[in-house]
Amino acid sequence: MASRGTILLTGGAGFIGSHVAVEVAAAGWTPVILDNFCTSERSVVERVGELLGSPVRCIGADIRDAQAMHAALGSISAHAVIHLAGLKAVGESVEKPELYQDNNVRGTEVLLAAMDRFGVRRMVFSSSCTVYGTPQRLPIDESHPLSAINPYGQTKLDIERMLDRWVDAGPDRHVCSLRYFNPVGAHASALIGESPLGIPNNLMPFVVKVARGELPELGVFGGDWPTPDGTGVRDYIHVVDLARGHVAALERLDSMHHERINLGTGVGASVLEVVHAFERVNGVKVPYAIRPRRAGDAAAAYADPSLADRRLGWRARLGLDEMVRDAWAFANRCG
Ligand code: NAD
Ligand code: UD1
Repeated sequence: MASRGTILLTGGAGFIGSHVAVEVAAAGWTPVILDNFCTSERSVVERVGELLGSPVRCIGADIRDAQAMHAALGSISAHAVIHLAGLKAVGESVEKPELYQDNNVRGTEVLLAAMDRFGVRRMVFSSSCTVYGTPQRLPIDESHPLSAINPYGQTKLDIERMLDRWVDAGPDRHVCSLRYFNPVGAHASALIGESPLGIPNNLMPFVVKVARGELPELGVFGGDWPTPDGTGVRDYIHVVDLARGHVAALERLDSMHHERINLGTGVGASVLEVVHAFERVNGVKVPYAIRPRRAGDAAAAYADPSLADRRLGWRARLGLDEMVRDAWAFANRCG
């Protein structure tokens, strides 16, 4: 089948980008990965190729490097860019706010300038539910007030605003900022998934390490939240569902100016619900202890995903059982 066109995936070797590459290819487009591998491994690109049955082109480049970005965009004729490249560790962003501004915000500026030069006018951007700050009402729809509660969140807000200016600055520009809730899980093949470096910050990778015996126990950040079981509630979304959302956005980009759309399931799960699902589905123990609340956390956050349904014809299909099953299978892929 002839390709429908080339899609450049910045950050395409990462956790989410690798799954997006697979879904983009499955929909008939040709993905080209661009990554500097600062938080990912080169072998991911080979594994994506293995999954697709043919190698995927990969450009090793930093989005902040204007020359490299010109060379990259000049060497392909990109229909659109899916812009996933970015640093995402909240704690690190508090320690190194300038690094986050430089990598995420200035990097996007350089990317947009290169897109302008080569007439690429479509972008799907990896935004985050972090732009809503501390939830003021639930479920969170796209009109919820915005605020940055850490430097990482500030970069997502800054980039969304930059994209507003970009679409207004020229004709026929189309952007969809996808505000992800909590992506977890892995591809059902167990060839690609999440492999954070060092001790994970996020819940699911931490649970996986505890279940494997690499960490002694999970510290549950707070058992006295105003939630049904006292632990924090979040909207976990399977990364394959999330990846399908990017294809849906790509297909409808030309009807958009700059739209912001939540990608979540609309269903909240507590920390203990995640732990218990993990134990039940995978037949393993996840020892845990209730600890003090983590600074900056909220009791509950979950999406109103109805705009994604209306605008993209997209709904999450996979539930918590599939998320914990696939996260565990990926963690055990090499024994
Ligand atoms: P990840 O760290 O696995 O992937 C990010 C990729 O971007 C990595 O491969 C990294 O090497 C690359 N990268 C970073 N800076 C780069 C640069 N300057 N030039 C080129 N490549 C660069 O993270 P992920 O979970 O796949 O996240 C992808 C995007 O989604 C990020 O923008 C992140 O902020 C956003 N997001 C993630 C989550 C989440 O929980 N995973 C939630 C909301 C939003
Ligand atoms: C975190 C980020 C947020 C980002 C989101 C992406 C912080 C403060 N926020 O949010 O900016 O958009 O990831 O997915 O880091 N938990 C434990 N023990 C752990 C780890 C987590 O109990 O060891 C709890 C948390 O308190 C929370 C839930 O698990 O209730 C989920 O935590 P996490 O995976 O870090 O995601 P978020 O807090 O939603």
